[in-house]
Amino acid sequence: MNAAAIAHPGTAPSNGARARALLQQACGLQVSEAAAERAVRERLAARGVPDVFDGAGVGDYLDHLTGPELAALIELVVVPESWMYRDPDAFVAAATFVKARLAQRPQRQVRILSLPCAGGEEPYTMAMALSEAGIAADACRIDAMDLSSVALARARVGWYTRNAFRGHALGFRERHFSVAGNGYQIDAALRDQVTFVQANILTIDAAASAGRYDVIFCRNLLIYFDATTASAAAAVLRTLLADDGMLLGGYAEVPAFCANGFMPLRLPGAFALQKSAPAPAPLTASAEAPAGRARAGVPPRRAPPPARAPVTAPATLAPVAALLAQARRQADAGDYRGATTSCQALLDSAAPGLADQHAADAYYLLGLVADIERNSSAADDYWRRCVYLQPDHYEALCRLALLSELGGHAARAAVLRQRAARVFQRQQAHKGTP
Ligand SMILES: C[S@@+](CC[C@H](N)C(=O)[O-])C[C@H]1O[C@@H](n2cnc3c(N)ncnc32)[C@H](O)[C@@H]1O
Repeated sequence: MNAAAIAHPGTAPSNGARARALLQQACGLQVSEAAAERAVRERLAARGVPDVFDGAGVGDYLDHLTGPELAALIELVVVPESWMYRDPDAFVAAATFVKARLAQRPQRQVRILSLPCAGGEEPYTMAMALSEAGIAADACRIDAMDLSSVALARARVGWYTRNAFRGHALGFRERHFSVAGNGYQIDAALRDQVTFVQANILTIDAAASAGRYDVIFCRNLLIYFDATTASAAAAVLRTLLADDGMLLGGYAEVPAFCANGFMPLRLPGAFALQKSAPAPAPLTASAEAPAGRARAGVPPRRAPPPARAPVTAPATLAPVAALLAQARRQADAGDYRGATTSCQALLDSAAPGLADQHAADAYYLLGLVADIERNSSAADDYWRRCVYLQPDHYEALCRLALLSELGGHAARAAVLRQRAARVFQRQQAHKGTP
């Protein structure tokens, strides 16, 4: 996507729109124009450029945005949020898998990748899980990659505040950390087990390391990408993963992986996947999206479950579906105001063709827009309305769970996650996939 792609016909894109497009092009992250504009302002202030956002200075800044300055701008929009033992079942599944692999091939080191690793919480947790499973440190190699140099610098130090330790089962902290100031320092032996490397998943030379990893963690990254970018990232992971390897995704990301060359492994609570064969064709635009463009920040959607099939005649349905498709296109193009207006028009219309399912989809989209605009409480409200109308709306359940998790409501997050997992399993069973 380039800046021109988001201009309205006949008008030049605003600097905010250009900044947003440049960021998405560089690292795949979808941010709102407002967030992109805020980040540029912050960089301009740091560089002593007068704060006139629509002035020539900004245009000039965006025209020459490369290298270290682009990296500095990206640092302002990444979300390096993570904590130790985030979704603990994933580490149980990975340690069990590693043990089995070592039993099969004791002479070969098992290779594990955490991408993205944020501040190191995920790869260090893997190192702890291996140690607690009695697996020798030199039996495995753990690589950890992230786009953010700031997060990686934190990871290499291995010092964490209380924020990295959530939930009640914190016995591991006593075993693997020592108190240091007002935080906790990871043991040197564990720290030395992880190799940190700065990398952008979209530009990694995957072919050079094809099949290198037995286990890959890629959690809570695809949720920030649009469908086209998620597809590109999944292709990289497919190449990096051994044919008999295991991928651990975030629970909201399983459908995106399944649409891009992976299939679920039935491990409770772990959201584990394996490669499906053969390699999938590159993602093409969905029927509802204009050519060459994927839908707004949403993993490719499942077909609606049969029990909730539309109840209206196609003739009445058409305008409702068209309005929803328009809203998706607008959100996809970064026209969040337009998308909101279209969704509201749909919800206000009380059209006879307005089935619960369409209203639910409109609320889901409104939630996505609110989330991109960093309005968590509005997003929460919209997604709740969505699941009220369509209790098996998998994506909304996942998004709500993630919001709860980030808001520190672990118990609510767990309930929503379990609900999402049940919906997902039902859908898989219905599709008859293994
Ligand atoms: C929410 S954290 C996820 C960390 C960890 N996997 C977890 O689930 O707790 C997302 C991370 O993705 C990184 N990131 C964003 N875009 C990336 C890209 N294109 N390539 C690699 N890492 C990226 C960010 O820097 C951030 O640290």
